[in-house]
Amino acid sequence: MARERLDKILASQNIASRRDAGAMIRRGAVAVNGTVVKKADCKADPETDEITVEGNPVRVKKYVYYMMNKPAGVLSAARDTRARTVLDLLPPRLRRRGLFPAGRLDKDTEGLLIITDDGAFAHRMLSPKAHVFKRYEARLAAPVSARDRERFESGLELNGMTCLPAGLKVLEDGANPLVLVKIREGKFHQVKRMFLALNNGVLHLRRVRIGALRLDEALAPGEARELSQEELSAVFSEE
Ligand code: URA
Repeated sequence: MARERLDKILASQNIASRRDAGAMIRRGAVAVNGTVVKKADCKADPETDEITVEGNPVRVKKYVYYMMNKPAGVLSAARDTRARTVLDLLPPRLRRRGLFPAGRLDKDTEGLLIITDDGAFAHRMLSPKAHVFKRYEARLAAPVSARDRERFESGLELNGMTCLPAGLKVLEDGANPLVLVKIREGKFHQVKRMFLALNNGVLHLRRVRIGALRLDEALAPGEARELSQEELSAVFSEE
């Protein structure tokens, strides 16, 4: 990381607002490599310098990764002037600049969403070439047949575009079955459009898994928490 102003570093780590960080520095609460620094515009390298606030080391994170259980009714976008977005739901302690949802879920879709400020990570996770499967539970308007499953597996045609092979498994039979769908792309409304192509409809959609990372069912809709290193690497594995 490059050298940055101390007040900016503290603000970027959510320790205080930029203005409060400046005040903390001026009153002598902040030290760099053991020396108290009283100028907010003094620069430090958060990776190589040890920064402390009232003696407590500041662990600077280059990027953050959160899992959210997205509720229906909010947009998967960073900002929107009129509608509520997933970022608006984050508690203040998790907020920082540059966050965005890695991949979109429709407004009415629920479940596993990753929010990060790491663009390269998001790109890697979303690229169809990376083979990261996303799994969804879908409640359908009508039963599915063995032929439907074959069409999913061999690559459905959507408006002249062929989908990559996908998985379809019935979890609960009936007039409105619950199915598990496994896809590795994220085309616009993809799951809904795939069922439309089969003359079926999606009544409810919830993402439950990305790679081997499962939605933490302890998270209430709208709640988010930080991912562990292990969970983060699960995104790029299948088991
Ligand atoms: N497919 C959809 O149709 N909607 C989503 O939100 C995600 C996948």
